[in-house]
Amino acid sequence: MEVSIIKGDLDKVEADVIAYSVTEEKLKEINKKPRDKFEELISNVNSEFKGEFGQTVLIHAKNAIKATYAVVVGLGKENEVEPEKIRKAYSSAVLKIRETKKTGIAAGFSAVKKIKDEEFAKSIVEGILLTNYAFDKYKTEEKDKIKKIENLLIIYDKPENILDAVDSAVLVCSNVNFTRDLINENADVMTTLKLAEIAKNISGKSKIRLTVLDEKQIAKEGLNLLLNVGRGSKYPPRLIILEYNGGGKEKTAIVGKGITFDSGGLNLKPTGSMETMKYDMAGAAVVLGTMKILAELKAKANVVGVIAACENMIGPNAQKPGDVYKSYAGISVEIANTDAEGRLVLADALAYTVKKFKPSRIIDLATLTGAVSVTFGSYVCGLMSNNDKLSNELFEAGQITYERVWRLPAYDEYKDDIKSEIADIKNTGDGRNAGTISGAVFLEKFVGNTPWAHLDIAGVGWLDKPRYYLPKFANGFGVRLLVEFFNG
Ligand code: BES
Ligand code: ZN
Ligand code: ZN
Repeated sequence: MEVSIIKGDLDKVEADVIAYSVTEEKLKEINKKPRDKFEELISNVNSEFKGEFGQTVLIHAKNAIKATYAVVVGLGKENEVEPEKIRKAYSSAVLKIRETKKTGIAAGFSAVKKIKDEEFAKSIVEGILLTNYAFDKYKTEEKDKIKKIENLLIIYDKPENILDAVDSAVLVCSNVNFTRDLINENADVMTTLKLAEIAKNISGKSKIRLTVLDEKQIAKEGLNLLLNVGRGSKYPPRLIILEYNGGGKEKTAIVGKGITFDSGGLNLKPTGSMETMKYDMAGAAVVLGTMKILAELKAKANVVGVIAACENMIGPNAQKPGDVYKSYAGISVEIANTDAEGRLVLADALAYTVKKFKPSRIIDLATLTGAVSVTFGSYVCGLMSNNDKLSNELFEAGQITYERVWRLPAYDEYKDDIKSEIADIKNTGDGRNAGTISGAVFLEKFVGNTPWAHLDIAGVGWLDKPRYYLPKFANGFGVRLLVEFFNG
């Protein structure tokens, strides 16, 4: 989508559709005394429309203004406006505009005291760009595809004031959509090798240094858990490392689970649980999307992105339940269930990252447990950590972006649940109890004293039905959170 900011009057702008938001107070003002042809058009158009949050009207302009249509969305009471309401309002506008099949829009807004204009403009861009997405490359009939907005003009008196905010929001949202594409793609396209190739493309166009360990190097380094999870697949495992040095005193590692397909392994998943498992590399995709953004934004941060990529399949070479392996960290692990593979590949990736890169803090992102959806549904991401400061920073970034996280305890008692009778630890916990936390305390064993946070994105990373600017299927949860964390 082309995005530009121009000065101008809403009644004179040449666009197919004008998207405009009003608070209840502003709408009353307009209804009492419209100041131009645009305000005249929307005044008293529909007495049901009061500017309440969630209300939307589509108006055919019939030559009253230059544009063909106006879509007006309510923001509710002025003192209750928040960025999330702005995102949702403009998202609703996009859905309305879709009905018109038009592709050129102009977005206007009137200032709200509580919110800075650049913040307002940023939220508009997020609401529009993130909604203007559909994974429809496999649809062959044009009529089944949604008509995407191609041009967005933001109408604002002092473009220079909001230019930076708009530019960076466009960059971030385009890359969230890029991340969504990676996750939604077929597992036999988005293979371990393909993830490495995408990492190469990203590093080739930026100041990112790339290292890829192939299966031989993975074996030689002793990353046995990663190697063994990948044994059943025809695609070899890869450990993909992207280093970006943008400055600052922290060195943060972000580590993504990159299971390109999770069949469960020999503890095979049943029908109903396997169909979406191409998204088991969502953590890896978020790492790629975030690294790409940080480099493109020239963010002041030092970040190592690490991806543990492999495919969890069955076959004569697949690892077996009951087997014991020695991890990279030296801790021996009983494979109690081959379907708890995420913690295995991450354990090696975390330990390797800590040893080789000595980050000052480490964050992993993983579609780790079904249990996290039992706790939080698809609204909140599970956070577990050994560090209050890091947890709080992620929590704050979540409040701002609305990619919200909530901490679960990783108390020592839970470590009893992962004790093994044959090895140091096992990769399952106490049956169905506290499954998300068992996963976390397993991972914690592999980070030593490094401040660490684990984000279980299994519940939030994939939606069965769309919600405002979050599409059905993959939504790229984590990218905006991390960008805010590093850059906010
Ligand atoms: N990839 C799954 C977790 C998952 C489930 C992600 C549903 C998204 C939606 C993970 O590898 C897994 O299978 N975890 C098991 C762990 C169990 C065997 C201890 C689970 O959650 O059931
Ligand atoms: Zn699994
Ligand atoms: Zn998995």
